[in-house]
Amino acid sequence: MSVSTLEIKVKKVEKSRINQLDPANIQFGKLYSDHMLVAHYEKGEWKQPEIIPFGNVSLSPATTFFHYGQAIFEGVKAYKDPQGNPLIFRPYDNWKRMNRSAVRMAMPELPEDIFVEGIRALVDLDRDWVPTSEGTSLYIRPFMVATDEFIGVKPAERFSFMIITSPAGPYYAKPVSIYVQDQYVRAFPGGIGFTKAAGNYGASMYPTMKIREMGYDQILWTDGFEHKYVQEIGTMNVFFVLGDKVLTPDTSDTILEGVSRDSVVTLLREKGMTVEERPISIDEIVAAYKAGELREAFGTGTAASIAPIADLTYQDNHMVLPQVETWEVANWLKKELSEIRYGRKADTHDWIYRV
Ligand code: COI
Repeated sequence: MSVSTLEIKVKKVEKSRINQLDPANIQFGKLYSDHMLVAHYEKGEWKQPEIIPFGNVSLSPATTFFHYGQAIFEGVKAYKDPQGNPLIFRPYDNWKRMNRSAVRMAMPELPEDIFVEGIRALVDLDRDWVPTSEGTSLYIRPFMVATDEFIGVKPAERFSFMIITSPAGPYYAKPVSIYVQDQYVRAFPGGIGFTKAAGNYGASMYPTMKIREMGYDQILWTDGFEHKYVQEIGTMNVFFVLGDKVLTPDTSDTILEGVSRDSVVTLLREKGMTVEERPISIDEIVAAYKAGELREAFGTGTAASIAPIADLTYQDNHMVLPQVETWEVANWLKKELSEIRYGRKADTHDWIYRV
C-alpha cells in the first residue's frame, strides 16, 4: 500500500477531553489523547486504517496474544517547533525496527504508510495534545497484537495494529540508581532481546521488582553466559564516559537497536568525540571507577531521553557518579537533541518528519 492509496477513515470525538491536560503538570503515560488509530490484518493483507475516538477494545478471552504473547510495540515522540507546528522524531527508524520485531515474532510486516502516515494523521488531528514546554512531548505508542481466537499454539493469522498517544513529561524525575544484574537474564543469543516484544518487558518485571525493594530504580542487564558484559538498562540503552572516550555496547541480537542510541552516537562522532561500540565488561567499568576515570554514565531511550545515572552497584562495588551538573557529554547531548527535536536547530540528518 503506498501513500497515494492509503485512505484513513476518521471518526472524531463528539467532545474533546483536552481540558483534562494540565500543561504545568504533565506526567508520563497517564493521560491519552482524544483519538487512536486501528488497522486490522486478515487473509494475508492489511485493511485500510481508521482513526476513532480513544476507547476500550472488546476481544474474545480466547484471543491468542493474551495467552502466547505475540505482541510488539514501539515508542516515538512528537514535539512542537517555536511556531507551534508538530514535528515527529525519526518515525521511519521506528517503523523499520517494528518490522524487525514483527519478522522475529512471526507477525506481518507493516507497510510504511500505515505506520508513518498513520502517526502523522493522528498527530495532525490531536495536535492540541502536543505540549510545548521544554522536556515535554507527545509520546506515541504504536503496537501490534495477534487476534486469532484459538487456544492451540501456532502463529496467528489475524492481527491488529494500533497507535495511541499520550502527552508526556520526564520519564525519570531524577538521576537513576542502577543495579548490575548478575543473577537473572534478559536476553540470550538467538532469542528476542533485539525486539520490542512485550514479553521482554514482562520477563523483566520480577527482577525489577526485587531490585526496587532493595532501593534501586533500574537494572543494568549483563550477558547470559558469564554475567560479564553489560547489555542495556530495563528501559534504555547505556553509555559510559571513560576519560575522553564514550563507550556503549555494540548491538547484537541481545540488545535493542535504540533510535536515541543511534542519534547519540551520530551527534558525538560529528562533534569529534571517540565513541566505541563494543563489548564492555563490568570489570572494565569498575576498574575505570577505581582509577577515577568514570566521568559520566547515562541511559538513552525515546521515553527516557537522556537519563543520567546517579550510581551503579555491582556486587560489593557501589560506584557513585560525580554531580550531574558537572557533566559535559550528557548535558551537551541533552541540549543538542532538544534543539533538533523542538525544531530550533537545522535538521541536517533528516530526522524530523513535519506534520
Ligand atoms: C521507549 O523508550 O519508548 C520505550 O518503549 C521504553 C518503554 C519501556 C518505556
